[in-house]
Amino acid sequence: MKKIPVILDGDPGHDDAIAWVLARAMPGLDILAVTTCCGNQTLEKTTYNAGRVMALIGLDVPLAAGRERPLLAEPIIAPSVHGVSGLDGPALPEPDRQPVAEEAAAFMARIIREHEEAVVLISTGPLTNIAALLLLYPHLKNRVRHIYLMGGGIGHGNWTPAAEFNILVDPEAADLVFSSGIPLTMAGLDVTERALVFPEDFERIRAVGNEVARVTAEWLDYFYQFHQKLGYPGAPVHDAVAVTALVRPDLLVMRDLFVEVETRGDYCRGATIGDSYGITGKKPNVRCIMDIDRQAFVDLLVKAVSHYGKGAGA
Ligand code: BDR
Ligand code: CA
Repeated sequence: MKKIPVILDGDPGHDDAIAWVLARAMPGLDILAVTTCCGNQTLEKTTYNAGRVMALIGLDVPLAAGRERPLLAEPIIAPSVHGVSGLDGPALPEPDRQPVAEEAAAFMARIIREHEEAVVLISTGPLTNIAALLLLYPHLKNRVRHIYLMGGGIGHGNWTPAAEFNILVDPEAADLVFSSGIPLTMAGLDVTERALVFPEDFERIRAVGNEVARVTAEWLDYFYQFHQKLGYPGAPVHDAVAVTALVRPDLLVMRDLFVEVETRGDYCRGATIGDSYGITGKKPNVRCIMDIDRQAFVDLLVKAVSHYGKGAGA
């Protein structure tokens, strides 16, 4: 079977890192590059973290850093969730590569232009780089096969009552991407808050015993501390759902909707407004994921970490 060419764009981040652990373990994916955006932390920190995660999982592809700021908005970071480093918790190896000289959008454009097939983008952070790609290289739009993204929520937000973090950080970028006409699958809060990994699941992951499994379990320990205080029974591994949508859509319930991004508004900037009742009469532009087989998702994560070998304790 032919592998699917993908670029991973994100702001690691614990759940971005786990999403990449999952993607790297999937034999059907051909990861062409990793690109970083500012979001959970500054660009400098998310790029450093990306290098550390790539070294951990042995992902030997080019890394490109993106824009230092959202297109128009002031940056927002999330140290309360991911710590001062953006990826606090277990010690990680130092990056084994430097980012390439080109900025992410230009680098993505080059890969997309040169690759024989249309490329899939998996976005697990604000959509700044992908919007820059569309603004600077509009002729390459048809060479993007599909965008799988974590962001938004039809029902609610998490950073404001209306807006989810990734969309709120750069609503103008999200608006460009959502209205681009490129096939989009959205892993929003509707599903990702159901993609819960419980403390007993952390132990299944840890018990796999290899280094990636141990670090993933410790990322989950860290990520859960924040969510536990808010009353979550487990860690919502948001970003891994975007990868799941590509590799195991059978685990998900999806609904095609017309979705627009609110870029103005006193209370709703960054909200993803889904036309659930077909009121606008407009054709759906987004496949929204609404639910997940949680147990099968956890099994998939366990299988993914097992890909990195048997541990000393196994
Ligand atoms: C999203 O925000 C970030 O903190 C996570 O990495 C995820 O991409 C969830 O709202
Ligand atoms: Ca993220």
